[in-house]
Amino acid sequence: MKKTLKILMMTGILMALASGCSQAARKQAKSDPFVEDLIKKMTLEEKVGQMTQITLEVISKRQDDRVVKLDPAKLREAIVKYHVGSILNCGGSANTFENWQEVITAIQDVATKETRLKVPVIYGIDSIHGANYIVGATLFPQNFAISATGNVDLVSQASAITAMETRAAGIPWNFNPVLDMSRNPLWPRFWENYGEDPYISSVMAYAYIRAQQGDDMAVPDKVAACMKHYLGYSFPLTGKDRTPAWIPERMLREIFVPPFAAGARAGVATVMVNSSEINGIPVHSYKYALDDLLRGELGFDGFIVSDWADIDNLFNREKIASSQREAVKIAVMAGVDMSMVPYDYSFYNHLVDLVNKGEVPMSRIDQAVRNILKVKKQLGLFTNAYPDKTARKNFATSEATKVNLQAAQECITLLKNANHVLPLAKDKKVLVTGPTANLLSVLNGGWTITWQGDREDLYPAEKDTVLEAVQKLIGKDQVAYVEGTAFDKDINTAAAVEAARQADVVIACIGEKTYCETPGNINDLTLDEAQLNLVAQLAATGKPVVLVLLEGRPRIIRPVVDQAGAIVMAYLPGMEGGTAIASVLFGDINPSGKLPFTYPKYTGDLTLYDCKNSEKYDPQWGFGHGLSYTTFGYANLKLSQKTIGKAGTVAVSVDVVNTGKIVGKEIVQLYLRDRVRSVTPPQRQLKRFTKIDLKPGETKTVQFELTTEDLSFIGRENTRIVEPGDFDVMVANLKETLTLK
Ligand code: BGC
Repeated sequence: MKKTLKILMMTGILMALASGCSQAARKQAKSDPFVEDLIKKMTLEEKVGQMTQITLEVISKRQDDRVVKLDPAKLREAIVKYHVGSILNCGGSANTFENWQEVITAIQDVATKETRLKVPVIYGIDSIHGANYIVGATLFPQNFAISATGNVDLVSQASAITAMETRAAGIPWNFNPVLDMSRNPLWPRFWENYGEDPYISSVMAYAYIRAQQGDDMAVPDKVAACMKHYLGYSFPLTGKDRTPAWIPERMLREIFVPPFAAGARAGVATVMVNSSEINGIPVHSYKYALDDLLRGELGFDGFIVSDWADIDNLFNREKIASSQREAVKIAVMAGVDMSMVPYDYSFYNHLVDLVNKGEVPMSRIDQAVRNILKVKKQLGLFTNAYPDKTARKNFATSEATKVNLQAAQECITLLKNANHVLPLAKDKKVLVTGPTANLLSVLNGGWTITWQGDREDLYPAEKDTVLEAVQKLIGKDQVAYVEGTAFDKDINTAAAVEAARQADVVIACIGEKTYCETPGNINDLTLDEAQLNLVAQLAATGKPVVLVLLEGRPRIIRPVVDQAGAIVMAYLPGMEGGTAIASVLFGDINPSGKLPFTYPKYTGDLTLYDCKNSEKYDPQWGFGHGLSYTTFGYANLKLSQKTIGKAGTVAVSVDVVNTGKIVGKEIVQLYLRDRVRSVTPPQRQLKRFTKIDLKPGETKTVQFELTTEDLSFIGRENTRIVEPGDFDVMVANLKETLTLK
């Protein structure tokens, strides 16, 4: 075993992890004279109201598609009688921009004109891949897809547009980014995250949060972000949503904490808690995670909101509390500042009672209210809680659509292209078939217009499905369409096969219908038999088959991989996805995405890319895989020095050349391998990436900088350490040795 050095690492992504400010220091930093003054004036009931969040349904009469109507009596009951400080959600489906402005105005009218202390409400919403609960918003690729672009600038731009469109409607708080890890492909929330790697997720988290919040959240185009679902939500042993995860502390800190540490470093205003449990402890009751780690070590100083009904779930589902009342006490004392109750005033009533009976100290209530009011103040809500009447011009602009199209184009990942089947010539006769060929919902997934994203009737008619986009691009006459099969049941596969015989090439669009959270649970990762059968039969005609995968997780398709000529991973590419896919298939766009997760070959082999040396990594397509219509060569991998000290940096450079005939974009990835260490090393870990574009014949020199901290890991004592020794620095097929002294 090598000698261990404990180091204090104060740079880069891990800085927040290491910054470990003390509890006392945090409390002092938090006090704000305005907020302190307000807290002094508040009654217990007013304080507990601030900690209470209800859903829009509680204060509305009804929701027709696109328009919600508030119930003035219920609105007053919530805000005047119960002093409710926060409201969330959309009432069922996306509402119009104008309706949102009316709703928010009516809510703030009551809060700031009819209450004693005039504290504004903080309205929160899930703007997950754009402002998905506002009709007509710009809806981007989902997180796992935009991560595949390898283009951090696009993530920032999409985030800034999402913030602008959300705030334009009057909503100042977004329950995103989702910083869970896509490490169990069965899990139905796989697509909501940035992939399986903690480094990519940390980079994307930081970029997203900075662009959501800017330097000043009070301006009319920024919102408070909410990183979620802290901590360890994404790795349920069974793959089923909201079921137990077993994650040892070393793995928690190595894999699951870093994106949240990056979020804290970016200054994220709020955190939402993991609905479920880790190691037998529901996270809503986990003081160590919520307070010591998040606030103490990571330096987070915003407020913590529960997930949906999850304080109650400590009693109802998790059975660690013997009553609703006890559940409230446990969660509040563990560090939850606001309860997403969301349907009633039970939390309020119990908490008032708990404080009155001395079971929850007023100091804890003050601390929670302080955290909440501080964010309201940072958002400028005390100065102006109302929607900006002139903000319509910021909503769904043509510039935003342009960014969205680029994001969709850049995420698309070419997995296989035998004999250069792609790009297709535009004069070919094409059959388009399969269950995802002619739906907009399958391009978007959950959190689109509705929670499940499945109300196809509410999707914007002007957007194109894959079929429509192909028809537009090459002319309707060139394109035949036969559905072939539904997701899990044959419709007219025989007719599709017949049509394939008449075509030059087949575009088979397969994948998943939309889902979100628990309704998306599956028992089998293999794609439905009906779809695999469709592909097999199409391929048997001898015509080239191009597979387009539209899916929220990598469903096993091994039986048809050899039969398909080309395979394109389109993920959930968003509203411009159809257009983007068509432009890639026919060569107007050269694909440049790379998988931010492992695409498994077998249901029984879910090994990830950063596996140990004892494991065999044999995926269908590995992490970081993605082809292009051109080719790239790598040469001259150079380190500025061969050794690095306890707190050093080393510059790495590599030449990348476009060796093909067309312009292309390439994600350049740098991996590290620790050859020997006291905790078994991963085979490799991504440490840097960047995206460049190259003309044919052009060479660019890419520069990276590594620091000692990149060589660190969570040691046997569960603290971050480095150990002297040799590391492989790897870019594409090149390798150099770096020695840590
Ligand atoms: C989800 C959260 C979401 C919340 C509010 C919950 O069911 O887990 O991700 O933010 O609902 O819609």
